[in-house]
Amino acid sequence: MHVPVLLQEAVHLLTEVGGELFVDCTVGLGGHARAILEKNPKAYLVAIDRDPYALERAEENLRAFEGRFSLYHANFADLDQVLKKEGISHVDGFLFDLGVSMLQLRSDRGFSFQRDEPLDMRMNPQEDLTAYHVVNRYGEKELERLIREYGEEPYAKRVAKAIVTARAKKPIETTGELVQVVSSVLPYRGGRINPATRVFQAIRIEVNGELQALSSALPKCLDFLRAGGRLVAISFHSLEDRIVKNFIKAHMKVLTKKPVRPNIEEVRANPASRSAKLRAGEKR
Ligand SMILES: C[S@@+](CC[C@H](N)C(=O)[O-])C[C@H]1O[C@@H](n2cnc3c(N)ncnc32)[C@H](O)[C@@H]1O
Repeated sequence: MHVPVLLQEAVHLLTEVGGELFVDCTVGLGGHARAILEKNPKAYLVAIDRDPYALERAEENLRAFEGRFSLYHANFADLDQVLKKEGISHVDGFLFDLGVSMLQLRSDRGFSFQRDEPLDMRMNPQEDLTAYHVVNRYGEKELERLIREYGEEPYAKRVAKAIVTARAKKPIETTGELVQVVSSVLPYRGGRINPATRVFQAIRIEVNGELQALSSALPKCLDFLRAGGRLVAISFHSLEDRIVKNFIKAHMKVLTKKPVRPNIEEVRANPASRSAKLRAGEKR
């Protein structure tokens, strides 16, 4: 159901120099985790996800590897606490496969603008901030800022104004209502991409504090990596990719001068992979 992106490339870069202890910071349904354990019979994997539903599925999908992995419900920003609990001080490789899983997109949590669902977008339903709150309670300036910064939407000002005007009449309750409000002020761009895509991305990033989590996790990885250990990260939009790229460049030996992209066959088989960029670094 969730096709792992850049699977061979990610597992190869992560494990080609050997090692036995790996951390999958975004285990999702366990696609990459499975391949790591299959291809490296001596490997032990600590697997983290903030989505409790993903962990249930990962546990099922990794059943054949009983005793060789442990699963943690946590934000990867807290990976130091997870590793302390496990009694681990050195790691051979960290993997991040960022963004949302198919499971999340197809859940009823409002990640997709293709169905009409309550505005939620929390990866971890135990956290407080929802898309409903962002859309209906944030001030106009704050909305404009996050739509511009996190959505890279050039019409952020218009969109923020339209949201504030619409919600003054009646709260915006569902993804369908939000799509209507947003689309009504955006010029139709003609392409296959829904005009509300960038706004949805912006709100999801805000709800889940995605950029902050990534920025605080990367230096923690470096603290735990042994010399020669690897960091591999797959990102799906330029903001994440920039954080990963700058971090690796500043602190590690760069293994991917240009990001690794899926080839045509992969994109054809799995359109969700089209914007993926993989970068890898090695601890000096
Ligand atoms: C693209 S999916 C990973 C798919 C996985 N590699 C597989 O093959 O099944 C991304 C996952 O990362 C999780 N995630 C995103 N941000 C996170 C964070 N800050 N901490 C922990 N998990 C996070 C999401 O809940 C989601 O399950």
